Order: sequence, then C-alpha cells, then structure tokens
Amino acid sequence: MKSDSVKIIEYRSEYQPYFERFNRAWIEKHFYLEEIDRYVLEQPEKAIIANGGAILFVTCNDMFAGTVALKKVDHTTFEFTKMAVDEPHRGKGIGETLSRAAIEKATRMGATKLILYSQRELVPAINLYRKLGFKEIPLEQGVYERCDIKMGMKLDEISIARANASHAVAIAAIGKRSFYEACKPFFNKQQDLLEYLDFTYESEKIADSIAKPNNVFFVALSKGRVIGFAKVKKQSINKEISAGRQMELQKIYVLKEFHGQGVAAALMQQVLELAESTHPDLIWLDVLVENQRAIRFYEKNGFRKCGLHYFTIGSQIFSYDVMARANVLPESSNHSIPEIMSYGNH
Ligand SMILES: CC(C)(COP(=O)(O)OP(=O)(O)OC[C@H]1O[C@@H](n2cnc3c(N)ncnc32)[C@H](O)[C@@H]1OP(=O)(O)O)[C@@H](O)C(=O)NCCC(=O)NCCS
Repeated sequence: MKSDSVKIIEYRSEYQPYFERFNRAWIEKHFYLEEIDRYVLEQPEKAIIANGGAILFVTCNDMFAGTVALKKVDHTTFEFTKMAVDEPHRGKGIGETLSRAAIEKATRMGATKLILYSQRELVPAINLYRKLGFKEIPLEQGVYERCDIKMGMKLDEISIARANASHAVAIAAIGKRSFYEACKPFFNKQQDLLEYLDFTYESEKIADSIAKPNNVFFVALSKGRVIGFAKVKKQSINKEISAGRQMELQKIYVLKEFHGQGVAAALMQQVLELAESTHPDLIWLDVLVENQRAIRFYEKNGFRKCGLHYFTIGSQIFSYDVMARANVLPESSNHSIPEIMSYGNH
C-alpha cells in the first residue's frame, strides 16, 4: 500500500452502487440479505444520511476500494456499520485506514461512543475491531438476525488492551520515537542512539516478543490509534535482587502529545493488576538516572530506588537506577526493598 494512493471521500448519490455492491458481496457470501440490509443498501441517503449519519468511501489509485457507514443512534452514539473492502484490495491496510477516518469523522460529528454489530465468523473484521480498541459489550436481541457479537468504543476515553501481533508496527514506532525524544540529550553520539533504536525497535522482533508466553504487552488506545504501550516480563530474575519471584516492567512509553492525560497511569494499573494475578514477590525495572520525569512517575506508583546498573550502548556507558516495588504494598509507603550493589556490563 505504500506506493498506492489511498483517499477517503464522502458519500455522493452516484456512489450508491459501490456501497451496495461491496456490502452485498460479503453479506450474500456468508449470510443472506435481511430486510433492513436491503433498505440501507438501496436507500442509504434515507437510511443513514437523512438521520444525521455519514458514509465514507476509500479509493485506491482512484478506484473505489471500500466503504463504511456511520448510522446515528443518538446525539453522542453512532453505529459503525456496512463496512466492506472490495476483495482485490483486502489485506493492504485499507480497511484500517478507512476505519480510522470513520472514527475521526464520528468524533467531528459529536460522537463520544461507537457501537457495532458483527459476527464472530468474520475473523478479519473482528480482528480489525479489536486492533482499533473496540471491546465486546452485551448484545441485545433482535437487531440483525445474523449478529452474534456487539462491540463498543468510547471516543472520549483512553482504553487499555492486551496487544497482539497486529499492534507490533505501532509499538515499534512509539518505542523508537519515545526513547529518542526522552534520551536524545544523554547520548554523546547520535549514531549510537540511532543504531540502538534500529536494533531494538524492529517490528518483526516486537511481533516475536509479543508471541512469547512470558511477555505481556499492553497498548493504550485513543480513537483507534495506539498512543502508548507497556511491556512486562512475567518472570525475569534480576540476580542482584534477593527476592524469589520477580516480574520486570521492561518498558512503558506514551507518545509525547498524550503526556499528562493519565495514559501511563492507566498502563501501570494494568501492570499492577497482572501482578495481582501472577503473584510475583516484587516488580522491578531500570531507568536512565537522568530520566527524572520517569523516576518521579515510578516513585508515585510505589517503586523505590534500590541500586544502580551500568549498561553500554555503542561507545557510551549509561547509568540506570534499578527500582522495585513489593507486589503487595504495606500500609506505610516506606516498604522495604533489598538494597543492591551496583553492577553492569561495562
Ligand atoms: C474486514 C475488512 C473490511 C478488513 O479490510 P482489509 O482492508 O482487508 O483490512 P486491513 O488490511 O486494513 O487489516 C487491518 C487489520 O484487520 C485484521 N485482518 C485483516 N485481514 C485479516 C485476515 N485475513 N485474517 C485475520 N485478520 C485480518 C488484522 O488485525 C489487520 O491488522 P494487521 O495487518 O496488522 O494484522 C475486509 O476483510 C472485509 O471487507 N471483509 C468482509 C466484510 C466484513 O466482514 N465487514 C464487516 C462486517 S461487521
């Protein structure tokens, strides 16, 4: 899709045949047209647009490639419906681009919530919805005969989800950008920083890492977009710390433009909930000693400095504070974490 020209365009009467054709194709392939489908597909202006909704199309190299409708339910809720990408154009990111455009459009139209009805057997669609941050909600009876799942997304809230391989590209991009912005001033040589980032944040490597059973990635989503992530190693022994079961919070990054909105706190909450269910004795992490903003955030969340760690990146030796937090905090915030000696690879 990189070299393709993908455009989003608004509904016009002459585009109705594409809306009908793309949607008939998948409905008739998997199910059959219900009365309500026929009405919406044949008369979308009456069924969707006249009631305050919208229909978008996506074109690829000037060819119509897909469509989605936003049906107004009430002033703040829209139904994401009748999404289809024409078969030859599938699997190229077009459905995702179209969905993001529809989410933005709904936001501009005053929506704070999106809902949708779907079918579990439509695996690509369900995966796409989950990737965007839609969550399953209770399904009422009698809307469409074929539906067996209802999903919703709040547009004025940040949601946290367990990541899967489809989030790898976004995670790699956020890791790269956030580390660069936070740590650039501390590197003597730009080259060391860039090589480290290329090595660490390669999306295939991240996808492999997500698949490992010992790793858990959480993503923070806003309006269908990944804006931050956390990576946890459920069992990761720091030999310098004398506790039996240790969990490592290896990374937590939030895009700069979303700082100060509680995103990192929401990710941390998920990490702590994971610790509640997996019962490590403590959670540990390391953080560049110069990264005072992050250190304050960890302290606020119960982590205490317990040692120093040296780590070589390229030609430079960096000092990292090792911080740890007992899994179950006692009443007093001065909980005891074993002091450790400084150690490192230099
Ligand atoms: C659902 C649909 C719109 C997706 O469009 P698309 O352009 O092929 O999707 P994209 O290439 O943008 O893929 C986006 C994400 O969708 C999911 N997905 C897409 N194709 C998939 C497949 N064959 N298997 C599993 N997941 C898939 C993945 O999460 C993917 O992200 P990834 O590439 O990072 O893994 C398209 O498959 C379609 O038109 N299906 C029939 C109609 C339909 O089911 N509509 C929804 C009714 S509720």
